[in-house]
Amino acid sequence: MLNIELNIDPIFDFISKEEVNELSRNVAEAHKALVNGSGRGNEYTGWLTLPTDFDKAVISSIIDDANYIGSNSEIMVVVGIGGSYLGARAVIEALSHHFPILMKSRKAPLIVYAGHNISEDYLSDLLDVLNEKDYSLAVISKSGTTTEPAIAFRVLKKHLESKYGKSEAARRIFAITDKSKGALKKLADEEGYKTYVVPDNIGGRYSVLTPVGLLPIAIAGFDIDQLIKGAQAAQQQLLNTASFDENPAALYAAARNALYRNGKTTEILVNYLPSLNYFTEWWKQLYGESEGKENKGIFPAGVGFTTDLHSMGQYIQEGLRNIFETALLVKDVRRELKIPLSDNDLDGLNYIAGKRMQEVNEMAEVGTMLAHLEGGVPNMTIKIPVLNEYHLGELIYFFELACAISGYILKVNPFDQPGVEAYKNNMFALLGKPGFEKQTSEIKKRIGK
Ligand code: PA5
Repeated sequence: MLNIELNIDPIFDFISKEEVNELSRNVAEAHKALVNGSGRGNEYTGWLTLPTDFDKAVISSIIDDANYIGSNSEIMVVVGIGGSYLGARAVIEALSHHFPILMKSRKAPLIVYAGHNISEDYLSDLLDVLNEKDYSLAVISKSGTTTEPAIAFRVLKKHLESKYGKSEAARRIFAITDKSKGALKKLADEEGYKTYVVPDNIGGRYSVLTPVGLLPIAIAGFDIDQLIKGAQAAQQQLLNTASFDENPAALYAAARNALYRNGKTTEILVNYLPSLNYFTEWWKQLYGESEGKENKGIFPAGVGFTTDLHSMGQYIQEGLRNIFETALLVKDVRRELKIPLSDNDLDGLNYIAGKRMQEVNEMAEVGTMLAHLEGGVPNMTIKIPVLNEYHLGELIYFFELACAISGYILKVNPFDQPGVEAYKNNMFALLGKPGFEKQTSEIKKRIGK
């Protein structure tokens, strides 16, 4: 039984139950198309059965490598962007201590990220740190040709080789890429790096449960068996039926599409725990890249409350009424901290003395939802029992399946991303990449150079 509780009832202050129920046919068709492999982009639906299809030998090898890296590295640099970065970071940050860098008792290597920007300062600062620490490197790129991670990897490979020598550096580099194509695969073969495969039938943003996410997550010290077990449980329930009663992913897909059809074009994923901020980033990529095409799609935004109630809260309460919220809630936190009593009560907080902070956070959750409903913002909640590997595995599968169903309801291909090429082509033309000569002269005219 899935441990995800979806509550869409508060949206019925704004739309009728019939408007959601009317979508049950579209949802059933989408679900069937996914299961039968007859929908758009069906060559990229390998993630659907990945949790139960997973090769156990790959998991063992990842765990062995994680132990090896843990024995010789204080830092693991994970190089990747988009789907080759966000899933791992989402899970690692959800499960990690909030201040790992300051924790002397940390057991696993500290994970740091590179190749997700082109900032010269960022990479230079990272090199300062790496000069002083033992480290290893995982370079992750399905295509093996993405510019941002390729630049970072070129710089870091040189640094690692000058620090350890070529052959030890090769033992410290792990490449996760296509099984046969791309520059990274060729380089990895030539240099003798340990490689893991991103399956052909799984696109970047659906790849967190492949070695793309699992290797960094295991290196960070988390239990990837439990993560997969959670996803397996979700697969077994959610692939089996499209009925709203038993499939909350189907109901979530229907509810958000019903709201979209009523002019609610922005969905804000809300969390109340800072450790979920990168989970929101992963969700934003999953939904934004899957649905935002052909001039359609719900715009996925994210906020971390109560922090953002002191910034975005004003807009959400009283701004343009084209938004709805989905609050991702966690019943139990991992730690316990009570608000102390104060002798003089100068801050006026004695009325909550003795209460756990989580209790106050829960009242903020309820109070905020009621305020936003009154302000004209439909709300849904998705609740899991606690942040651990198993429930994150369930949640990942839940959101992936809901996203694919939702994309099919919107009648887009949820597995391609043609729009991300536009900036790349301009950047290549501006940088004078061989093969882009025509575009270079055109773009220079456009910007007056
Ligand atoms: O979801 C996607 O497909 C993208 O976000 C890619 O993951 C991202 O562009 C990185 O691509 P690659 O793994 O080929 O370097």
